[in-house]
Amino acid sequence: MSEDRGERSPLDRERAAQPVATAQVLSTSAGETRRLGRCLGALLRPGDLLFLVGPFGAGKTTLTQGIAQAFGIRESVTSPSFTLVNEYRAADRRRGPVLYHIDLFRIGGAAEAFDLGLEEYVGRAAVCVVEWPEPATDIFPGDRLEIKMAYLGDTGRTWQLIGRGTRYVELVRQFAEQCAPMTMDGK
Ligand SMILES: Nc1ncnc2c1ncn2[C@@H]1O[C@H](COP(=O)(O)OP(=O)(O)O)[C@@H](O)[C@H]1O
Ligand SMILES: [Mg+2]
Repeated sequence: MSEDRGERSPLDRERAAQPVATAQVLSTSAGETRRLGRCLGALLRPGDLLFLVGPFGAGKTTLTQGIAQAFGIRESVTSPSFTLVNEYRAADRRRGPVLYHIDLFRIGGAAEAFDLGLEEYVGRAAVCVVEWPEPATDIFPGDRLEIKMAYLGDTGRTWQLIGRGTRYVELVRQFAEQCAPMTMDGK
């Protein structure tokens, strides 16, 4: 047992007060992952933050491609290899927000992540999608949508959506209703 005498840090208190909603989603093909991305993209608003968590090939970039399509981005979205942040803009400015696609796979740890000034990208008139967010978990705002992806056979993927904070609790609800009607509510 740790020596927890009920004293909690301000961050712990913020987390305890934060509403959370979860949902489970199944995608059985890359095409379905892209469709779910397009549907999610249509629900996103400037300032939104998404974490995509999962092993190689889970579909993080495929999902981001769907989101980009919903924003009217014509450029093809790829896993950023040497750049940590890719910026995409719709061909027609009225279509959708700017998309920052961030990939922190190569970042060694929290100190290195801290030096990148990542918080600069969040909360502007843009949507931020972060693959491999683990080293920067505490650098980004606590209110966000996390999608945790796991393999289910060759083409199946299961996702756990975790919406943290009022905005993202609502987003999980909308996504479950409008994009993935077979969604099971989590705990
Ligand atoms: N259900 C699925 N969802 C997403 N990708 C799938 C699915 N089934 C097969 N795939 C394939 O898996 C690969 C996913 O790659 P990618 O999106 O780059 O993953 P990540 O960015 O998580 O490493 C693609 O080649 C895609 O065609
Ligand atoms: Mg990727």
